[in-house]
Amino acid sequence: MRNSQPDPRTSGQLRVDLGDRSYDIHVSPGLLARADDLIAASAGPGPRFIVTHPTVDRLHGGALREGMGSSPCQTLHVPSGERQKSVRRAAALWGALLAAGADRGAVLIAFGGGVIGDLAGFVAATYMRGVPFVQVPTTLLAQVDSSVGGKVAVNIPGAKNLVGAFYQPRLVLADPTLLKTLRARDYRAGLGEVVKHGAIADADLFSWLEANTRPLARRHPPAISHVVRRSCAIKADVVRADERESGLRAILNFGHTVGHALETTAGYGVLRHGEAVAIGMVAAARIAGLLGTCPPHVADRLVALLDALRLPTRIAHMPLSRILSAMRSDKKTLRGIPRFVLPREIGVVQPGCEVPAHIVETALLQLGAST
Ligand SMILES: NC(=O)c1ccc[n+]([C@@H]2O[C@H](COP(=O)([O-])OP(=O)(O)OC[C@H]3O[C@@H](n4cnc5c(N)ncnc54)[C@H](O)[C@@H]3O)[C@@H](O)[C@H]2O)c1
Ligand SMILES: [Zn+2]
Repeated sequence: MRNSQPDPRTSGQLRVDLGDRSYDIHVSPGLLARADDLIAASAGPGPRFIVTHPTVDRLHGGALREGMGSSPCQTLHVPSGERQKSVRRAAALWGALLAAGADRGAVLIAFGGGVIGDLAGFVAATYMRGVPFVQVPTTLLAQVDSSVGGKVAVNIPGAKNLVGAFYQPRLVLADPTLLKTLRARDYRAGLGEVVKHGAIADADLFSWLEANTRPLARRHPPAISHVVRRSCAIKADVVRADERESGLRAILNFGHTVGHALETTAGYGVLRHGEAVAIGMVAAARIAGLLGTCPPHVADRLVALLDALRLPTRIAHMPLSRILSAMRSDKKTLRGIPRFVLPREIGVVQPGCEVPAHIVETALLQLGAST
């Protein structure tokens, strides 16, 4: 994969090259102070609509509005929680935009975690067949993952992210200082996706994480900036090579085949997404170990790193049969046969792997699934 320009290790600015859908990702502390100019330059001069949760607004909305200067701006509140990623909530936002007289020049600003990003992005993709939108992610998961790549969606009963689009933002503004107020569990869950990025594409990042678990646990701003930049650079490279997930982009699903099944089995909200992905990555590494396609030290290093970051690595209180049936009914499953992204070594994975059922069962039982 090509490296993003300029060098993402040192620069706070990256570009996702997608022809006329290209956009910049800015990662730096205090960035919101420059929001007005950055948004005007990338999304146009139209009236701005900030979509956010009341809590995020209370904590950080002032800084964002201050950064917007005198530009016209309204705030639309959405309660917290995965349930808000719904057609009903999207319809309420379409209605609020219409009532406010928003036309095709209106700029939607997603100011929150992945729930707000996916929901506001979906509304932006559909309102008047598409209005510009800007991601200002406020959770670690959103800064390292969901705000980049243009997947937007809502859930329908029984099917997460089933209704959506590929719709790229015009700009991503990631300010690591916003993460100071995040609940500890939400912060840690975001680290799960950072570990994933190292495991799929960047052995140096993985080693860096192994050596820096303490500054990360303390939310040391330079440590957070580093992982957000590296993660965005990796995701930008993958998305550039395969915007609509027809091939390479599937590597981003490392840990997600089992992870999604665990989220469904536990009941949404019980396991954080990043926690489920952490266990799912260990499962994939154990499966690859059982198949003999990956040395055992890969799973051992994953477990040690995830343990040090206080992320779960074992399945607790979940029957094997329910996990397997959730995996078969996942929307990414072809003809009821789950596909896995399997590690070959740290930093290299193989997508699209079919795995014999008895191997999957053995790995899940080894990880603690009950019979
Ligand atoms: N589009 C994609 O590519 C993609 C990728 C991964 C995940 N996702 C989606 O992301 C969602 C999960 O996102 P999430 O983990 O960010 O959860 P979230 O958006 O629900 O945010 C978690 C909690 O943190 C609070 N919060 C947000 N920012 C805060 C801050 N700075 N300080 C204090 N509290 C804050 C929120 O109010 C919420 O209660 C899921 O719906 C998932 O499907 C999408
Ligand atoms: Zn994920």
